[in-house]
Amino acid sequence: DKKVTLSALQAMKGKEPIVMVTAYDALFAKLFDGEVEMILVGDSLNMSFLGKPDTLSATLEQMIYHTQAVCNGAEKSIVVLDMPFGTYTTPEMAVANATKVYQQTDAQAIKIEGGKERAPIIKALVDNGIAVVAHVGLMPQFVRSEGGYKVRGKDAEDIQQMIEDAKALEAAGAFMVLVEGVKAEAAKAITDAVSIPTIGIGAGNVTDGQVLVWSDMFDFFEAFTPKFVKKYGKGALMIKEGLQQYRDEVKSREFPSEEYSY
Ligand code: KIV
Ligand code: NA
Repeated sequence: DKKVTLSALQAMKGKEPIVMVTAYDALFAKLFDGEVEMILVGDSLNMSFLGKPDTLSATLEQMIYHTQAVCNGAEKSIVVLDMPFGTYTTPEMAVANATKVYQQTDAQAIKIEGGKERAPIIKALVDNGIAVVAHVGLMPQFVRSEGGYKVRGKDAEDIQQMIEDAKALEAAGAFMVLVEGVKAEAAKAITDAVSIPTIGIGAGNVTDGQVLVWSDMFDFFEAFTPKFVKKYGKGALMIKEGLQQYRDEVKSREFPSEEYSY
C-alpha cells in the first residue's frame, strides 16, 4: 500500500468521512498507520507529553523532532504537523520555518491556527510549495489572549465570522480546514460554505472528517475529559494494572522466573 495523497483526501469531501488521529512518536504512528487517512503531530504534545499548561511554549525544534519520529512510523497515512505558536507571524517567517520543516521531515503538510487575517501567510506558504491545513473555531494558541477555551458559534455573528474566515483561508490556498470546539450548526454552515474538506473536533458529526488526540481517546490522560472526547480504550488502567503486577512480582521475586532467565 502506498501513501495517501492530498488530492485523494480532497476527493473524499461529501463522499466518505476522513479519519485523523494525533501521534507524537514512531511507536504509536506505526500502530495507527494505514488505519486512518491522516496523522497529526499536534502541538497538544506540549501539554500531554511535556506536561505544560498550554500549547504556547512548544518550539519548532520540538515539533520537528516529534514529526521525524512520527514519519518514521507512518508509511501510508499522511502526516501533518502543527506549526507552533509564534513561528508563522509574518509570511516571510512562516515560509522560512515551514521550509525548514519540509527539509528536515517527511511531513506532507503543516497546520496553522487563525482566521482570515492569516490568508496572506497561507498564500505565501502555498506559493512556495507548502501544503496548508487551516484551523478555525476554538484555537488553543489563543488561550492566553482569549482568557480560556471558549466554544464558538453560539450566535449568528460568530458563525458568519467563521464562515468568512474559512472561505478566505480556502481562497488563499488551504487544502483543508480543521474546525475545533464549535456548535454543530456552525460546523455544518462552515462545511457547506467551502469546497475543501473540514475536519472536526468537538464540532459534531457534520464535518467532512474527525480528529481526536490519541492520549485522550485511549484514556491515558486522566486529569480532565472534554465533552467531545469519546474513550475508545482504557489506557491508563491497562498501564497501571500491568505496572502494579510487575512491581509486585519483582518484590516477591516471582519475576523473572526461569522462563525469562538465561
Ligand atoms: O494539537 C492538536 O492535537 C490539535 C488537535 C486538537 C486538532 O490541534
Ligand atoms: Na494543535
